[in-house]
Amino acid sequence: MADLLLGQVLSFTADPFVAGESAARHESHGAVLVEAGRILATGPADRLRAAHPQARIHDYGRDLITAGFIDAHVHYPQTAIIASWGKRLIDWLNSYTFPEEMRFADAAYAAEVAERYLTLATAHGTTTACTYCTIHPESVDAIFTAAQARGMRIYAGKTCMDRNAPDGLRDTAQTAYDESKRLLGKWHGVDRLSYVITPRFSPTSTPEQLGALGALWGEYPDCLMQTHLSEQVDEIAWVKDLFPQSRDYLDTYEAQGLLREGALFGHAIHLTPRERARLVEAGASLVHCPTSNTFIGSGLFDMGLARALRVGLATDTGGGSSFSMLHTMAAAYEVAQLRGQALHPAQLIWLATQGSARALHAEDRIGNIAAGMEADLTILNLASTAAIEQATRRAGTIWEALFPTIMMGDDRAIRATWINGKPSR
Ligand code: GUN
Ligand code: ZN
Repeated sequence: MADLLLGQVLSFTADPFVAGESAARHESHGAVLVEAGRILATGPADRLRAAHPQARIHDYGRDLITAGFIDAHVHYPQTAIIASWGKRLIDWLNSYTFPEEMRFADAAYAAEVAERYLTLATAHGTTTACTYCTIHPESVDAIFTAAQARGMRIYAGKTCMDRNAPDGLRDTAQTAYDESKRLLGKWHGVDRLSYVITPRFSPTSTPEQLGALGALWGEYPDCLMQTHLSEQVDEIAWVKDLFPQSRDYLDTYEAQGLLREGALFGHAIHLTPRERARLVEAGASLVHCPTSNTFIGSGLFDMGLARALRVGLATDTGGGSSFSMLHTMAAAYEVAQLRGQALHPAQLIWLATQGSARALHAEDRIGNIAAGMEADLTILNLASTAAIEQATRRAGTIWEALFPTIMMGDDRAIRATWINGKPSR
């Protein structure tokens, strides 16, 4: 039987970084018809009710129905160490991240954190995540098994590291290749799961390991590849020492077959003109992680890049300080303000939905409300706290009604999260 969701409905017919706010379509008394995991139709509530009298009604009143949020870069194994105090990237990795990631050799612990992470993500309105795992194949099995049971579209891969990581947290060029290939064969394209080839970043991979993963990517060209690029100034100096032959940080990937469409580079803050030009030319995706970039003190991403290539938005949990894509939109807004780039609410919501979907090359399936799209939806209460409610009383437009929730909202604003056509919260 079909389900008919009633409420305000926000969707996009174009890219608001190109077309401005007219890219958005707002139906103030709207409806979304869902069946068997797909959106069948969207439009005015009266019309859809009349056309589908048998459908089961879910009346969300004045709540806003949007596409589910897509977190394009997260480390689910860092769930338990989110908001760990202090330190710069490299110390933070050594003090908090690596000891925690070591625990994922235990399949039972990996399964517990995978469940915990997906429960938190769903509670925050996130319906798809693209996540790093740890070097342990068990950590990949854990997140895919948990996501499969929930019907979630999840992207994940074994994080590969063969140097500058502690004992117990290193593989080799050969085992990285072999295990990634085995996991890819096991999970890629199963239900809504996609395998992502995942070298952590150049400081923790030898050129041989990067080359082995580049070769693997060549064998599976429809896969995505994710890594980190130019997050902190000290990190870039370290890359220069480790790769004396390379022109720049991007070249350490490019030289090993890791730069083309389908490459996802997290952070990408401190780019040289050559790197920017090559990223655009190659059709790579960048992922903006604003709460992480302020929390770890990395720098201010240039949102002007969103006009030149695919840019997604992400929490980067646990380097990021929140599971909430609302909080992440607020941070993106504030970072852009510091660079003199005022982002419109339409652009913020688009980044967290279509923008991330485009970064993942999945914009024909997720990240928008339109007939034929997969039914991943987030329903926002636009008056979830007293502070937000009073700030919206004089709102004259949907953007004035929505912006206080973007700036001050959290999981209390998530009325419901629909995944694969079913309410899961
Ligand atoms: N660079 C390499 N690994 C990581 C990580 O786990 N988090 C962040 N923020 N940056 C990284
Ligand atoms: Zn990261």
